[in-house]
Amino acid sequence: MSSVAFAGVSSISRIAISTGGGDAPGLNAVIRSVTLAARNRGWDVVGIRDGFNGLFLPEDYPRGGFVDLSRQAVRGISHLGGTILGSTNRGNPIAYPTQNDDGSWTEVDRSEELIARLAEEGIDALVTVGGDGSLKIANHLHERGLRVVGVPKTIDNDLDKTTATFGFDTAVDFASNCIDRLFTTATSHGRVMVVEVMGRDAGWIALHAGMAAGAHCILIPEIPYAIDVVAETVAERERNGSRFTVVVVAEGAVPVDGEISTIGKAVGQAVQLGGVGSKVAAGLTELTGKETRTVVLGHLLRGGSPTALDRLLGLRFGAAAIRALESGHDGVMVALDPPNVIHVPLAEATRKMKNVPLEGDTMLTARDLRINFGDRMPDVLP
Ligand code: F6P
Repeated sequence: MSSVAFAGVSSISRIAISTGGGDAPGLNAVIRSVTLAARNRGWDVVGIRDGFNGLFLPEDYPRGGFVDLSRQAVRGISHLGGTILGSTNRGNPIAYPTQNDDGSWTEVDRSEELIARLAEEGIDALVTVGGDGSLKIANHLHERGLRVVGVPKTIDNDLDKTTATFGFDTAVDFASNCIDRLFTTATSHGRVMVVEVMGRDAGWIALHAGMAAGAHCILIPEIPYAIDVVAETVAERERNGSRFTVVVVAEGAVPVDGEISTIGKAVGQAVQLGGVGSKVAAGLTELTGKETRTVVLGHLLRGGSPTALDRLLGLRFGAAAIRALESGHDGVMVALDPPNVIHVPLAEATRKMKNVPLEGDTMLTARDLRINFGDRMPDVLP
């Protein structure tokens, strides 16, 4: 257990919580846990609407962008998907999208204003729940003097220094259920089904869901794929009497001599990934002559009720954040280090992303099962 800044056990009487970036199942469990653990210490708790937008656009919200988080307000919410506070990935306070008089947009650093606004409201500390973007913001605010603890959230599971993020298990569970269903229709029609899943630049969702459902090919950003290698698997299966093939593709998967597939980019937002599933399907049809269909699971992976595992992780993270604040820690992220929840400096946790380790046990298992990753395994070279 470590912390970059130990603020000393100073009194806290009021905290705020915000949820930022793409939502993930388990956010409401964190909100409930933070609220109850804080209230059980006699602290007051408020939520901030829509990431930090509630603070910047108080006139657009009731109660000036804050929500009183009473015990009643968080009753019975742990099993609900989404976030009762709302979220946004268009409200980065360090690069806040601001429209100029001529209609163009610039990004303005509004972090000092945010800190001042929290001080005006008598808030002693902030618990911020988010992915890499939100946690980098949290670290920036910490460096500017705000007392802050981060909670790692993302379906992508790509945050470093924590074994898992909440939301990932729910996404994998749902994706593998969908792939199960696609197996039956793929078998009936003797088709190739290509399933595109989220995950940004990491292949965690594709790998885990694909393996759990028994996919034949899994394409992940960590391994550039050659479409002819995937086509060989389809053709080989056909020769062996299996007329169908299921291919799972991570949205960030890249062909060996091509580029990541994107849909577009809005002001103040990260580039939107998508489209690789259709490209893979088109390539397979061309090379194998087989009928191919594409299914993009997209935001379905972020919706719905969290699994018990994600609810529990959210509850554990939320209470651990309050314990960290109570013991004087600042500028840290709570993290799963089985069997414990620890905390690590935000600066360390946000230094790099966590990709699928190619020599890890899960990948080795996949290789043993001869799942195709669109590359040529040395031991299966002709
Ligand atoms: O980071 C979570 C995530 O769902 C990614 O897997 C995906 O690329 C992105 O968010 C989609 O974001 P948006 O909600 O802006 O479409």
